[in-house]
Order: sequence, then structure tokens, then C-alpha cells
Amino acid sequence: MTETAETAGSEGPPEAEPALRTLAMPADANPNGDIFGGWVLAQMDLAGGVAAARRAGGRTVTVAVEAMRFHAPIAVGDLVTCYARVARSGRTSITVAIETWARRRRRSEEVKVTEGTFIYVAIDEAGRPRPLPEEPV
Ligand SMILES: CC(C)(COP(=O)(O)OP(=O)(O)OC[C@H]1O[C@@H](n2cnc3c(N)ncnc32)[C@H](O)[C@@H]1OP(=O)(O)O)[C@@H](O)C(=O)NCCC(=O)NCCS
Repeated sequence: MTETAETAGSEGPPEAEPALRTLAMPADANPNGDIFGGWVLAQMDLAGGVAAARRAGGRTVTVAVEAMRFHAPIAVGDLVTCYARVARSGRTSITVAIETWARRRRRSEEVKVTEGTFIYVAIDEAGRPRPLPEEPV
């Protein structure tokens, strides 16, 4: 079957705990009622930052955003959930795979609307890269 915007997420959202959940508001939309891509990126950056800070045991900064894909629009009133999974730990960097799902207003199904890979770097007090702590076993 050809993957379309509305079937892209038909496998259902991850079972993991969400990193962030929020409501898409009119102030975040263009005149057509669709939510700005930049708003979604900001939510994903926040969600990835939560996962990265947990892995880093402290402060991190975003160094790169890769493989960003917008599958379907988000509308005002959608309940937006970001799931963040640490995909790779480097010496100082953390690669986080992020999916965003929207629950449409007055409809029960959830649709995968975006996904992307965000890279964070653990930093010290001076903003310099800091080695990651050992991964918990
Ligand atoms: C993030 C920052 C501290 C890294 O400093 P740096 O001197 O470039 O550090 P390094 O070259 O030692 O790289 C550190 C790590 O980041 C990774 N990295 C750097 N640039 C990268 C890029 N463009 N893409 C992917 N990874 C990158 C390196 O591979 C390295 O990973 P590793 O330690 O796991 O091997 C610095 O670039 C910075 O402060 N950037 C601005 C961050 C910021 O303000 N973000 C918010 C934007 S609004």
C-alpha cells in the first residue's frame, strides 16, 4: 500500500512515555488554520532536550537537526505528543529520534505528523563539550 499522510502513522504511536504533550493553539497557526512547521520543530527540540538532558545528566545544547520529515499537517485543536528515544550516544553527543503524533479534535485516532533526528551535546558550565556519563546498565 502506498504510504499517504494519513496512513504514515497507522502502526500507532510508540508505547514509551511521551516526552512532551501539548495542544495546538490558534496563535501557532497560519491563516488556513494549519500549525507552523517552526512551532512543531520547537516542540520536538524541547522533547529531545528532555531525553538528552536525562542521558547527559545535566545541561545540553542542540547542535544539529537531521532527517526532518513532515508527514501530515497539524490543525488547531489537535493534541500533539512528542516521543523521544536516545538512538546513539557518542563521546559528548546524544542522537535522539523524535516522532510527533497528533490526536485530531473530535476524532479518536492518532496520526504520525512528523519525525526527525536531533543531536545534542552535553556541555559544562562554560558551554564546552563535556563527556557523557557511563550509560546505566
Ligand atoms: C555544541 C557546541 C558546544 C559544540 O562545540 P564544538 O567545539 O563544535 O564541539 P566538537 O567539535 O568537539 O563536537 C562535539 C560533539 O558534537 C558533534 N557535532 C558537532 N557538530 C555536529 C553536527 N553539525 N552534526 C552532528 N554532530 C555534530 C561532534 O561529532 C561531537 O560528538 P562526539 O563528542 O560524540 O564525538 C558548539 O558548537 C555550540 O555551542 N553550538 C551552538 C549550540 C546552540 O546554541 N544551540 C542552540 C541553537 S538555538
